Amino acid sequence: MQWKHKDLLDVSQFTEAEARHVLSTAAHFREINSRPVKKVPTLKGRSVVLFFAEPSTRTKTSFDMAGKRLSADTFSLAKSGSSLVKGETLKDTALTLQAMNPDGIVIRHGSSGAAQFLAERLECSVINAGDGRHAHPTQALLDALTLSRRWHGDFSGKTVLILGDIAHSRVARSNVLLLTLLGANVRLCAPRTLLPPRLDTWPVTVFGDLAKAAQGADAVMCLRLQLERQQAGLLPDLREYARTFGLSARHLLDAAPGCCVLHPGPINRGVEIDSDLADSAESRILEQVENGVAVRMALLFLYLTRKSPDAAAPGMPE
Ligand code: NCD
Repeated sequence: MQWKHKDLLDVSQFTEAEARHVLSTAAHFREINSRPVKKVPTLKGRSVVLFFAEPSTRTKTSFDMAGKRLSADTFSLAKSGSSLVKGETLKDTALTLQAMNPDGIVIRHGSSGAAQFLAERLECSVINAGDGRHAHPTQALLDALTLSRRWHGDFSGKTVLILGDIAHSRVARSNVLLLTLLGANVRLCAPRTLLPPRLDTWPVTVFGDLAKAAQGADAVMCLRLQLERQQAGLLPDLREYARTFGLSARHLLDAAPGCCVLHPGPINRGVEIDSDLADSAESRILEQVENGVAVRMALLFLYLTRKSPDAAAPGMPE
């Protein structure tokens, strides 16, 4: 498939065939990640700026590792070390980076729409690594890869429960879109204050009761409370929240056989998920991290070789 997109802003840009193409390309790169020498020359000579204006452990490290495993040069810029703190606008920072001619910019930013703002102004590819509460497409893709490996690519008839702070979660928004595109049914469960407005336009079933929401679920995705994005007063009591909406092994008793548990991380043990469950056989949390490297390798490969796929060196998928 000739990749036609310049930028990755959200999974809403994809057809189902394109989403599945990303997943199968990522599955190819998983194999490279299992080799003793995990490096191929596919993106030699190409450069990627990792511009993270919000904290990140998994996403930033895995993009960095993904680029380096494909032999691209990666350059990291954090908000605290950039001229944003001296008052430079996002546009000027972006144009400055563009003038250095990178092939791609991966951006994480606290403002919804930041990735699109850059994409409209820059010639290089822009990949959204999380913008405010809007979208986190690379997380949704790595979650889908994790579930796809478990379900042999067949999402039809599968039910995924997304649990927790939906209102402030870019992970939830991108996952609802992608899981629905791939054929799954999506349920949401949260206290009313942590549900977004206009939910009637979302293709989901909403539950206020976790025991009912978990019944028959094939996967449960827990979300961190996005305290940094919440207004005061939305959650009067954290212990009460943990008791009512924290996932524990007892909720999985009525779930579908083989139900697995996902979490994008970072996890707050004992708040949105019971600590033992996070470490249990049902938990796919570390496999999600592993798949994150492969998905980001696939995305860098697809977006950076879009204009000249033939120039890609060995290591590229057939
Ligand atoms: C998520 C994010 O930043 O949106 N983390 C991640 O990328 N793995 C979720 C979160 O911060 O809770």
